[in-house]
Formats: sequence, structure tokens, C-alpha cells
Amino acid sequence: MILQKRNRILRSSAALRSLVAETTLTPNDFIAPLFIDEGDNIAHEIPSMSGYYRYSLDLTIKEVKELWALGIKSVLLFIKCKDELKDNTGKESWNKDGLMQRSIKAIKEAVPGMIVMTDVALDPYSEYGHDGIVKDGKIVNDETVEALMRMSLSHAEAGADFVAPSDMMDGRIGAIRNILEENSFREVGIMSYSAKYASCFYGPFRDALDSAPGFGDKKTYQMNYANRLEAIKETGQDIEEGADIVMVKPAMAYLDIIREIRNQFNVPVSAYHVSGEYAMIKAAAKMGWIDENKAIIESLTSIKRAGADLIATYFAKDAAKLLNA
Ligand code: PBG
Repeated sequence: MILQKRNRILRSSAALRSLVAETTLTPNDFIAPLFIDEGDNIAHEIPSMSGYYRYSLDLTIKEVKELWALGIKSVLLFIKCKDELKDNTGKESWNKDGLMQRSIKAIKEAVPGMIVMTDVALDPYSEYGHDGIVKDGKIVNDETVEALMRMSLSHAEAGADFVAPSDMMDGRIGAIRNILEENSFREVGIMSYSAKYASCFYGPFRDALDSAPGFGDKKTYQMNYANRLEAIKETGQDIEEGADIVMVKPAMAYLDIIREIRNQFNVPVSAYHVSGEYAMIKAAAKMGWIDENKAIIESLTSIKRAGADLIATYFAKDAAKLLNA
């Protein structure tokens, strides 16, 4: 054949393939989610997230040092609240001696350069396992936003670099920005879960924190996965209200949304590769059906190619090791 175009030329060696690669993944792209529990020297493997642990704060610090040494620049903190501290106000979430507040301080002290982000939502603190305050079987918006403001302020006071509201209440980004401004926290950022879908892929996470909703589901606040325009609308509102980074969650089944958001807006876009996505890869690898390391790098590269600048992923450490190797 006499061909004018031979596409295979650019794929002919590993060196050439990496020379012309359009997307590169680095540990700097990752946000490592951490589950933190009370106690000492506790490493509890989450049954539905094989190889992922909920650590007590001492072991969390050790983990954060390892992550930093691998080139990971950010952690996203989730705490497991004791049952007896859960109620319908979420007040434990702004306890200045609470586990979250102690964790923020200890991590910033141990590894000052690490960007500490904190989950802001009521579900770990809620007796109902919902992201907001419950009244007459409904999740009430405006009272919940007040609680989220107090929680965010308390995280900022403890030294958080970023607060990350994952609750999907209306108006919370503007309200949180205001309370941070009023209290002179001018350098605290907001990473908004702007397009967070009501997804079955959060199941293992709720095991990790014992935070599954006690009644109903989260469909009156998290988005319907049938929708695309709604993601653009909500993300635009969050940016107007002051979000520094926006997020799409989950990631793999929502690559179109990530691309859409990347094209529409000019702020950093983060994607959350969630617990169920982690569990699927782990389970298939355990069965010997896929190559785990390859699946990790392919998935994360695809999320980045779709337009994510940052990726929150339970594979952050594994992927960093693979990329550094
Ligand atoms: C809580 C929250 C959830 C996740 C992050 N923050 C669960 C939920 O909304 O039910 C899910 C993360 C994951 O599945 O990895 N607001």
C-alpha cells in the first residue's frame, strides 16, 4: 500500500508513545482521602474496601508522612464519629476538641506543607445518617447551611487549608465564604462538591464511617444521574458563590460531565474516584479478572484526560508508587 497517513508511526515505541502522550499523571494530581478514628494504634480494614484502612490519629500521621514522601500534596479528611456523639444538630462537628479538629492540627503540625482539606457535611455526625438536619422526615436546607457554616469555621480555626462541602444544600458555598470572610480566614479555600450525584457507588464509604442513611435516600439533595445540564447550572452557581475548586463525583461513570465542566469553566476541576469505583477494581483484581495496577493507572489517566485537574482517589498511594517506580 502507498499510504499518506500512517498513524502507527507515533505508537511504534514506548519512548515515542510517551513523547507524544497528551495526558500525564503525577502524584501532584492526587488528593488522598483519609478515614480517621479515635484510639491508638488502630488500623481497621474496611471490609468492602480491601486494602484500605480507617486509622487512629497516630497511624494517620504516619500515613500522611508517607504520602508526602511519595509526592502527594493533599489529603481529604473524614472522621468516624462515635455513636453517642451523633444527634440531629451535628454539633459535634464544630466541637473545637473534636476528632476532626484534633486531626487537622496534628497533621498540619507533622507535615506543614500538606494541603489539608476537610469534608463538610452532617452525615458522619447525624443520628439519621443524612447530610442535613431532619424535620418531619425531610432534610431541611437553611438550618443545615447554618450548621455547615459553623463546621467550616471550626475547621478553619483548627488550621484547615480547604473546606470541602459535600452535602449539596443550596446556598452553602456563599454562606461558607461569608463566614470565612467575616472571621478573616482569607486564605482558606473552598472545594465544592458541585456536581455530586445520588450514586450507588458510595456504598463502601458509608461502611467506612458507619454513615448510611437510616431512612430514605439522598435523592432530594444529591443530583439525578440522568442529568447533565443541571451539573453545569449548579457548578456555575458554586463558582459565583466563591468556590475555588469544583468537583464532579463519582468519576468513571461521569467522564462526560467532567469534560463538560472543564470546557465551561475556568477554575480547577476535581473528580472524586469514589469508594465503589475502588471496590470494583479491587474485587475484579482479587478474582484474577483484571490486572490491578494497570486498571488503576488507566482509570486515573482517563479521569485526567476527561478534564480533571485533581483526582481524589483511594488509589493515591498505590498510584504514586507505580508512577514513581
Ligand atoms: C458525605 C460523603 C460521601 C462521600 C463523600 N462525602 C457519601 C455520601 O454522600 O453518601 C462518598 C465518598 C466515596 O464513596 O468514596 N457527604
